[in-house]
Amino acid sequence: MSAFKPVRGMRDFLPEEAKIMRYIESQARKTAKLYGYKEIITPVVEPYELVTAKVGEEVRLRMYAFEDLSGRKVALRPEFTASVARLMATTLRNEPKPLRLFCVGSLYRYDEPQKGRFREFWQSNFELMGSDKPEADAEILLLTNYLMKSIGLKNYKFKVGHVGVLRGILSQEGLAEDTQNQAMQRMDKKLYEEAIKIVREAGASEKGIQTLQKLVNLRGEDAAKVLEDLMKAVGDYAEAVEAVKNLGEILSIVAGASEGLNITVDAGFARGLEYYTGMIFEVYVPELDIALAGGGRYNRLVELFGGEPTPAVGVAHGIDRMMLALQEQKAEVNLREAPLVMIIPVNERLYTEALRIAEILRTKNIPVEFEVMGRKVSKALEDADRRGVDHVIIVGEKELREKAVVLRDMRKKEQAIVKISELPATLKLQVS
Ligand code: HAM
Repeated sequence: MSAFKPVRGMRDFLPEEAKIMRYIESQARKTAKLYGYKEIITPVVEPYELVTAKVGEEVRLRMYAFEDLSGRKVALRPEFTASVARLMATTLRNEPKPLRLFCVGSLYRYDEPQKGRFREFWQSNFELMGSDKPEADAEILLLTNYLMKSIGLKNYKFKVGHVGVLRGILSQEGLAEDTQNQAMQRMDKKLYEEAIKIVREAGASEKGIQTLQKLVNLRGEDAAKVLEDLMKAVGDYAEAVEAVKNLGEILSIVAGASEGLNITVDAGFARGLEYYTGMIFEVYVPELDIALAGGGRYNRLVELFGGEPTPAVGVAHGIDRMMLALQEQKAEVNLREAPLVMIIPVNERLYTEALRIAEILRTKNIPVEFEVMGRKVSKALEDADRRGVDHVIIVGEKELREKAVVLRDMRKKEQAIVKISELPATLKLQVS
């Protein structure tokens, strides 16, 4: 049989990378705690109908979908939002609002593998259910900022827009939702010409088309200026005007709460997922041209799944891409790990005694590796040196008679005889 490799688009995470992934996950969990989000765990396998309901063509065509052995049509989840909305429509429907929910885990999309794009990837996902206030949208932006900063990312930028602006114009122009979705999908891919062609062929007025053309060129870091121009451009479209006002409120709350947030307002910005109804955003770093995170407001999804009308806003942070961004920025990830202690019995007769000492140390929270290769002390020491072990405990007969062992500091290349009873305290002192 030929050697196996992971399936295309799937990866192994070796210890160095697994450590960074888990580090980012732990920072996401800390963010959840600081902002009051409770963790839930949802299934990887969901009903096909649920996860395809409003994800948009882009994700729908990339589903890992199959029939299970009972003939149910199921899919591996491509995102968390549908699962959280399902819970809100069913089990959690009577919970007091607001409800803040956090999930972390793996997602599956049959995307074309390339740098930062995988078929199995990880997200940390935050959903704030039950509020349609701009403060709720602002909270999602602020917690995303907190997470990006806390993992040590630099120069990240928010790109922010509002689905209500484009949808407002397209509905007033009489476009059916389906046609709107098609145009928005093209906008998401920056295929503006194609989007405008769809809108024109659907019978939009010349004024409508000119307005759209203005929007796709309207973006900038001076939020007040972009919003002012935007307001002028959409003046005749009532729903779009409301959307611009709403975006203005959200951005002024964010600016008031956190200085120095780097935000580009982009009037022609659309996202591939179809459930958005309000503010949308993504996060980028200069080193990568793919988004590290994405989110926005979706006020009708819970209702679509049979629940109470529930305004909602959320975000998913791509853990793999945050790791990639940290690597690109050569960021020092501050992962303080307890230094390693290795225990080496000088001969086989002392294995049991050495293991017993290892167990005592572990109960005192001191990480210990046992020499399992049966090597001579000199060889085992060489190996310990190579692997950056900080302290070695050598268990020998002579010292054991005195209820003691040899403790060697590998960095200082010094060693001393230490009583077993004093070993935890001595190591703790040196380790901390
Ligand atoms: P999304 O933009 O599809 O949004 O994904 C969010 C993030 O997941 C992306 O910005 C990216 O970092 C990561 N991601 C997506 N696809 C891949 C991939 N193939 N490989 C690696 N990373 C990927 C959502 O999933 C929405 N559910 C976000 C949301 C939550 N909106 C409201 N609440």
